[in-house]
Amino acid sequence: MVFLRSAALIAACAVSLVSAVDISVQATGGNKTRAYQYGFLHEDINNSGDGGLYAELIRNRAFQYGEKFPASLEAWFPVNGANISISHPKPALSDELPAAINVKSSGKRGGQIGFANEGYWGINVKKQKYSGSFWVKGTYKGQFTASLQSALTDEVFASTKIKSKAVADEWVEHKLELIPKKDAPNSNNTFAITFNAAGAKDGSLDFNLISLFPPTYKGRKNGMRIDIAEALEELHPTFFRFPGGNMLEGDNIDNWWDWKDTLGPLRHRKGFQNTWGYQMTNGFGLLEYLEFAEDMNMEMILGVYSGLSLDGNVVPEDELQPWIDDALNQIEFVRGDANSTWGSKRAELGHPEPFKLEFVEIGNEEWLAGYPHGWETYKQYRLPMFMDAIRAAYPDINIIASGSVFDQNGIDIPEPAIGDYHPYRKPDNFLEEFNLFDNVATPHIIGEVSSTHVNGGIGWEGQLAKWPWWIGSVGGAIGLISYERNADRILGILYAPILRNLERSQWDITILQHAADPALTTRSTDWYIWELMAAHPIIETLPVKGELDPLFFVAGKTKQDSLVWKGACYNTTEHANVPVTVSFEGVAAGTQAELTLLTGPKDPYGYNDPKTGINVVETTKTILEAGEDGEFEFEMPELSVAVLDTYFEDTYSE
Ligand SMILES: *[C@@H]1O[C@H](CO)[C@@H](O)[C@H](O)[C@H]1NC(C)=O
Ligand SMILES: *[C@@H]1O[C@H](CO)[C@@H](O)[C@H](O)[C@H]1NC(C)=O
Ligand SMILES: *[C@@H]1O[C@H](CO)[C@@H](O)[C@H](O)[C@H]1NC(C)=O
Ligand SMILES: *[C@@H]1O[C@H](CO)[C@@H](O)[C@H](O)[C@H]1NC(C)=O
Ligand SMILES: *[C@@H]1O[C@H](CO)[C@@H](O)[C@H](O)[C@H]1NC(C)=O
Ligand SMILES: *[C@@H]1O[C@H](CO)[C@@H](O)[C@H](O)[C@H]1NC(C)=O
Repeated sequence: MVFLRSAALIAACAVSLVSAVDISVQATGGNKTRAYQYGFLHEDINNSGDGGLYAELIRNRAFQYGEKFPASLEAWFPVNGANISISHPKPALSDELPAAINVKSSGKRGGQIGFANEGYWGINVKKQKYSGSFWVKGTYKGQFTASLQSALTDEVFASTKIKSKAVADEWVEHKLELIPKKDAPNSNNTFAITFNAAGAKDGSLDFNLISLFPPTYKGRKNGMRIDIAEALEELHPTFFRFPGGNMLEGDNIDNWWDWKDTLGPLRHRKGFQNTWGYQMTNGFGLLEYLEFAEDMNMEMILGVYSGLSLDGNVVPEDELQPWIDDALNQIEFVRGDANSTWGSKRAELGHPEPFKLEFVEIGNEEWLAGYPHGWETYKQYRLPMFMDAIRAAYPDINIIASGSVFDQNGIDIPEPAIGDYHPYRKPDNFLEEFNLFDNVATPHIIGEVSSTHVNGGIGWEGQLAKWPWWIGSVGGAIGLISYERNADRILGILYAPILRNLERSQWDITILQHAADPALTTRSTDWYIWELMAAHPIIETLPVKGELDPLFFVAGKTKQDSLVWKGACYNTTEHANVPVTVSFEGVAAGTQAELTLLTGPKDPYGYNDPKTGINVVETTKTILEAGEDGEFEFEMPELSVAVLDTYFEDTYSE
């Protein structure tokens, strides 16, 4: 960050050819808001759950499978010529995890053999404590060796011996800890388990549920990856929508994300056939979602399955009741008291206190899959039946319909439900839609939003950008401003999707990018915009006068009772800077305000590239003083975003 005094900034700015924009903010006449709006949707897309936020390091840890994804040895390799194969031992580790890995010597008996995992395309090895476990079946007298080692050299970073408790015909869990003495130079590492084949009765052992965790966010067992969780936390999120997205709907009615399958010991989680091309472990289950929301201090928007799947099939009206009951049970699991049927399950799992849950969304993008039948049935019976049942049981829960008044053939959102709008747009579209919500009385959330397509392309068929890019981010900021100025009716603004594992990238526009190596965790240009906007929550909008385009803006009061103005500058005449005057009614001359200005690279397509680690977004903070009429003067370059706030922490005096 660059800190400048106002005089320096003004001196540095060239005299502009562009006409100045005068903006005046009235002291009264606005609307109260919910104040805290910014957040995100998380679903497991492109390994953003498994291999992303969920900290498990071992890929394919339990050989889980589904119709689409057969059991496989993906990510596993033999060590010392072992013969490894998928087995279906009897007894199985559990009904839920029937497949295992069989490890035996391929030649004559004897010698140290084993198997290794390459992680989610690498394993981050640092001087920290790793906690692992694995289950074994088969008689073995001797020791197991577990180690973290380089995949490129012979270097072993940490190794430990575990005395075998393994016996025939029974699964026995073994626990281990590894503390590397040094950081590995890169993430090209594997986790290996070996044993002495001579000590195994048949020269062969079955293994399952092989797991290894680094330290996790807030120290949660089975928890989240620290660097990613922190990069999300720094966005000041207050709203969290989960578990999807398409993931919630599932491929067909038999394959929906059944929250009940995601509870309890990992050995009883069978996993889920993800709609994004891989088998999910379900290690990141409902309780993990709830605890993550609690740890991040976010309000939840819980998506419940609505009886529509991605293949367009819909549960008929006379068969819907069991699904409604299931959603009621799910809500009871989240917020029922510890003596209720499902609340007691939650208590058993270690969280007796009910979670706070005030927003429940019925399904996801009902206007899309199976259109028009899906959408019609949603309007006719599915939404009303779910809504009535949930509100009868929980009158304080706000119901969110998973569509907006603007979606295909619209929806008259039945009171008191809230709509959900999902603009994935070109940057220019956010200008065109600037007034979209100005006259919509029905409250909405913006449950998913980002700039995805470059200007000039034709709609959804046009060119998807490869990364969040600067003009896309500024266009997106104009969208955020358009929602904030209707913040009395727009209750939440959520980025989606948020994460993309760089090894698995088709959906390229995410607020963060990551890989096994935390050094590659990259805050995109969107991240900087969202961080700034969310850092100054408006609790009351104020009427603003001033000409729109190229500047788009909103103003209001914050919880510190300060006055804030947020603006984005799009394309300007001849690319010139725009002189701006923001006058707040009732502000005394000499009042100070902090101006935070985000500017980008010369190239509007510039982006934050994980390979170079260079941040193209420059943040400049300046203290301005109000003139005689409470006016603050500054300039905004083309494609820039600014927040002016009369409350700021004094980090300036030295
Ligand atoms: C490896 O094990 C499989 C299954 O038991 C067996 O069919 C195969 O012949 C073995 N391969 C070697 C090289 O021992
Ligand atoms: C692992 O090493 C290979 C070969 O040098 C390299 O191509 C690859 O990028 C490395 N992967 C990671 C995750 O470092
Ligand atoms: C659950 O029931 C027990 C016994 O009836 C009672 O003491 C306790 O307060 C109840 N707990 C809750 C959370 O309602
Ligand atoms: C703004 O400029 C970009 C080129 O940088 C262009 O693609 C886009 O269409 C322009 N939009 C408007 C509204 O002028
Ligand atoms: C990533 O997600 C997209 C959906 O956005 C999916 O089409 C694609 O197959 C996934 N890519 C990989 C490599 O799994
Ligand atoms: C306040 O709400 C009213 C009614 O929705 C609207 O007409 C007016 O523009 C809003 N004012 C501000 C400053 O948001």
